[in-house]
Amino acid sequence: MNALATRVTGFFREEHDFAQLTERVRAMPRRATPVKLWSCACSTGEEPYSAAMVLREVGCAGEILATDAEPEALAAARRGIYALEAAEKLGEERLRRHFFMRGEREGGAAALVRTELRAMVRFEQRNLLDPDWRPVERFDFVFCRNVMIYFDRAGQRRLLDRLAAVIAPDGLLFLGHAEASALGHPSFVPCGKTAYLRCGPDP
Ligand SMILES: C[S@@+](CC[C@H](N)C(=O)[O-])C[C@H]1O[C@@H](n2cnc3c(N)ncnc32)[C@H](O)[C@@H]1O
Repeated sequence: MNALATRVTGFFREEHDFAQLTERVRAMPRRATPVKLWSCACSTGEEPYSAAMVLREVGCAGEILATDAEPEALAAARRGIYALEAAEKLGEERLRRHFFMRGEREGGAAALVRTELRAMVRFEQRNLLDPDWRPVERFDFVFCRNVMIYFDRAGQRRLLDRLAAVIAPDGLLFLGHAEASALGHPSFVPCGKTAYLRCGPDP
């Protein structure tokens, strides 16, 4: 798995997805339950922590499930320690609000995800191709970006069918910029650059 799957990721990668997430969350009617989001190939954590930043900035309670098949990537994600040069791209305001700065003398300069942000994200190991995987939760948003490119067409279709079953009606699925596999799927209609709206009856 390590050899096959590149871990390339970054904070607010494909920024338009996070702009759309911000807009949708702002437009959601107030409700008693937290917004639920799944980052299903979360790599080293930048994607789910970016989503957590959005939810905190909008002032919305959120629960984020972040999964990946690769244990080493998940371990790094759980640690939540990032090189300064990667974190600095977030800008001063976000860096101050969501990170602690660690100095050279404390083990090397780095940015550490703050406890409040970390508490919003639950990390679990999950292989999206596992035939025994059963949907048990419902999500308002699913980020499944830059992972389906590794699957064949049948694998992509099986995963989309499963995602359709866990995304709430009118929820959003975000794919990577080079992934258009949801086009033509009966449960998804395009909605913006790389997002798809979960439509139709529950599959
Ligand atoms: C290129 S990264 C994408 C990270 C993030 N979603 C993004 O777009 O920035 C691909 C991730 O998919 C994970 N991956 C590959 N195959 C997988 C599978 N079958 N199940 C779950 N995760 C998988 C890899 O471990 C890697 O962390």
